[in-house]
Amino acid sequence: MNPLSGTTLRAFLSAVQIQERVAALGQQLTHDYGGTNALHLIGVLKGAWVFLADLVRQVDLPVTCDFIGVSSYGKRTVNSGVVRLTLDLAEPIADLEVVLVEDIVDTGLTMRFLLETLSLRNPRSLRTCTLLDKPSRRIVPFTPDYVGFTIPDYFVVGYGLDLAGAYRHLPYIAICRPSDSSEETAL
Ligand code: IMP
Repeated sequence: MNPLSGTTLRAFLSAVQIQERVAALGQQLTHDYGGTNALHLIGVLKGAWVFLADLVRQVDLPVTCDFIGVSSYGKRTVNSGVVRLTLDLAEPIADLEVVLVEDIVDTGLTMRFLLETLSLRNPRSLRTCTLLDKPSRRIVPFTPDYVGFTIPDYFVVGYGLDLAGAYRHLPYIAICRPSDSSEETAL
């Protein structure tokens, strides 16, 4: 069955709201890493590439980027509980000031796996930045260092976030629900 059929989108965070918050996060990183040699941002694929592309342009420091891939939810909206590396970093991170950039933290399993994996590679420092945080969904303890928006337990799409590969291109973020839900307004 097509996972997109029978779903409706409801506007949640506008492009302007997102851009303002991303600019503030960039300023915060610029401030916090101002005394260091360089900042190394690692985007978690696939969801974080849109956020990382905007964030890196708001950081007024020497900055380098890399990407790491982990398994996603595929065609479902629930986490299987198994995190799998699908693409490794291109460069070593030893002695670098690393910030791991994620689109959304849900159960916390992905970030816990990545922190455990990357800390073994001896970065000088390792912090986390997520555009969205759903703390009510945690099944393992995890607190991101930088958060764009703390949100309730909604399944959201847009600005890099997908449902079965769709909707990543939207410049805004929308709540995705079954279209038989009574409170929906289609976009
Ligand atoms: P966690 O391991 O459960 O914290 O999940 C993190 C990953 O799940 C994110 O990088 C997303 O790919 C995906 N995810 C979690 N919640 C959502 C959502 O509301 N919309 C789209 N993807 C989500």
